[in-house]
Amino acid sequence: MAEKKTVKSLKPKKERGDKITMLTAYDYPMAKVIDQADIDLILVGDSLGMVILGYEDTLKVTVDDMIHHTKAVVRGAENSLVVADLPFMSYKVSNLAKTVESAGRLVKEGGAQAVKLEGGKELVAEVEAVIKAGIPVMGHLGLTPQSINQLGGYGVQGKNKKAAEKLIEDAKALEAAGAFAIVLECIPTELATEVSKQLSIPTIGIGAGKGCDGQVLVTHDLLGIFSEFTPKFVRKYAKLNQKISSAIKEYKEDVEEGNFPSQKESF
Ligand code: KIV
Repeated sequence: MAEKKTVKSLKPKKERGDKITMLTAYDYPMAKVIDQADIDLILVGDSLGMVILGYEDTLKVTVDDMIHHTKAVVRGAENSLVVADLPFMSYKVSNLAKTVESAGRLVKEGGAQAVKLEGGKELVAEVEAVIKAGIPVMGHLGLTPQSINQLGGYGVQGKNKKAAEKLIEDAKALEAAGAFAIVLECIPTELATEVSKQLSIPTIGIGAGKGCDGQVLVTHDLLGIFSEFTPKFVRKYAKLNQKISSAIKEYKEDVEEGNFPSQKESF
């Protein structure tokens, strides 16, 4: 049986040139399937706001929401490393104690092994404080959905020289502060490749091309369960929405026509 992965398992993979795999999960059965497929990391993303809770964006997700879903994922993840997102306004506020408390709750109550937060240089003190409390931190740069109102949309980031230089500086600052990995979302391939070369910690890309040390996707996008919108960077490996819909229609018909339950399905 494979061993439980830890944050220490990732850097050697980068050094060997082995790609790192990460997928999102928000519940026990999905975590179990992902874990059994030997995916390195499971992210309990605040994307659950859209994918599971039906919100328009990630902003309404609370620490309690994250804990509820993280607990379920942790029960299904025997080997994969579980990372939970710090939701909007649970950090980046006036005092570091709040950040440490939010991260601590995701680990202590949720059972996550690490937390992820969105932002760069401005978060160095918070990253250091969380790590000092014994909690590994993953960074997230580029398109940071919690800043959607500032960014003005879900477009590609780091496109001009100034923005690209800032992103590289932010990535280096997170590495220096002790982050164990950084998600790079929706940035040009060339920039993501450069960041990956300049850092010794792994980068995990989503819409950031193949030069990253690993890749992450929202599982519900990959499976074709969430179909409200599909970003260009998503590869749909299945169209489960259609399958689920026809199974449910078939069940409805069977009940209405008296074909379910059969004698075999009855006592
Ligand atoms: O919330 C999330 O699912 C994420 C991934 C898109 C990286 O942050």
